Amino acid sequence: MGKDKVHIFDTTLRDGEQVPGCKLDTEQKLVIASRLDEMGVDVIEAGFPISSPGDFKSVEEIAKLVENATVCGLTRSVKKDIEVAAQALKFAKRPRIHTGIGTSDSHITHKFKSNREDIIERAVAAVKYAKTFVEDVEFYAEDAGRTDNEYLARVCEAVIKAGATVLNIPDTTGYCLPDEYGTKMKYLKENVKDIDKAILSCHCHNDLGLATANSIAGAINGARQIECTINGIGERAGNTSLEEVVMIMRQHPDLHLDTNINSKLLYDTSLMVSQKMGMPVQPNKAIVGTNAFAHSSGIHQDGVIKNRETYEIIDPADVGVSQSSIVLTARSGRAALAYRAKNVGYELTKVQLDKVYENFLKYADRKKEIVDADIHEIVETSAIDMTSLA
Ligand code: KIV
Ligand code: ZN
Repeated sequence: MGKDKVHIFDTTLRDGEQVPGCKLDTEQKLVIASRLDEMGVDVIEAGFPISSPGDFKSVEEIAKLVENATVCGLTRSVKKDIEVAAQALKFAKRPRIHTGIGTSDSHITHKFKSNREDIIERAVAAVKYAKTFVEDVEFYAEDAGRTDNEYLARVCEAVIKAGATVLNIPDTTGYCLPDEYGTKMKYLKENVKDIDKAILSCHCHNDLGLATANSIAGAINGARQIECTINGIGERAGNTSLEEVVMIMRQHPDLHLDTNINSKLLYDTSLMVSQKMGMPVQPNKAIVGTNAFAHSSGIHQDGVIKNRETYEIIDPADVGVSQSSIVLTARSGRAALAYRAKNVGYELTKVQLDKVYENFLKYADRKKEIVDADIHEIVETSAIDMTSLA
């Protein structure tokens, strides 16, 4: 059975850049966009052109630069937004306008002080207007996670008829459970007329730590685009993390889903985005955190030294990390110490190792982590015959 392609829609430069204090200038955005294109991202959401002259310029420059990916600009269901986005995208080889409106009762009542029928009319008008500028129009039903499925299906049907090519079903508040979000996609697949004329897209926020799980549940139930960001950055607790969804599909061939992403660029891209945004990656972040391939407890270290796969499901080289690391702490065992000592030039016999290990534990109880320079000092201050060292 072949694999179905899931399109990767990267919104690092739009939803990701909404993180307070993470503003990027156009030059920095161009470097990131170029890397995303090289990595095989299908769609780059370059910004929200009407939001500021700076954002307009960034979208325009990215549209000129990007060779392969579709370049997308966000709008509200407002004529002026759509005109400005079309203008910013005019040099794109593959332009897409991403327009939409809130569809949950909460958005309809409180934000728009409107009613369901009026919202459908505004959604249809926005899609039709966007279609006068570009062929590829994505529609987002903001707060779809909390939108009643029957009404959501009516909205989707109306915008497909108006020409939408992609239907974005955002869990804007990160509220849904994976089963609930997956069921929503399945419901739309089964109940929206002409659903096969459009691609269903997952756009999940991480308020309950479920963004990745929800996106995968969406894809299992028929979505063929996932909207995500590098390092999972984004509003509040962030968006679905690109590196996580890509590697979940790679590590689970049983899902029969895959992307175009060159995973070997994941680690370096994570580092690039983190540095440019001044936003550190948590050390225990899946796939790209500094501890993602680090082993520190004695039992795990012994297992990994004997066979990497004992405690690692991903080959670090597959995501661009040169090798797993064996971190020396007071929890480490003899196998780890012998391994690291060998790496810095000491081939210890069993008797020598016992002595050095005793000395090592004294150091390790005083220090959080033992580095290579410490290993030299530990070996040299252990009561062993230095001339007999290999
Ligand atoms: O989270 C959301 O609903 C969004 C839309 C604007 C697509 O970011
Ligand atoms: Zn969002």
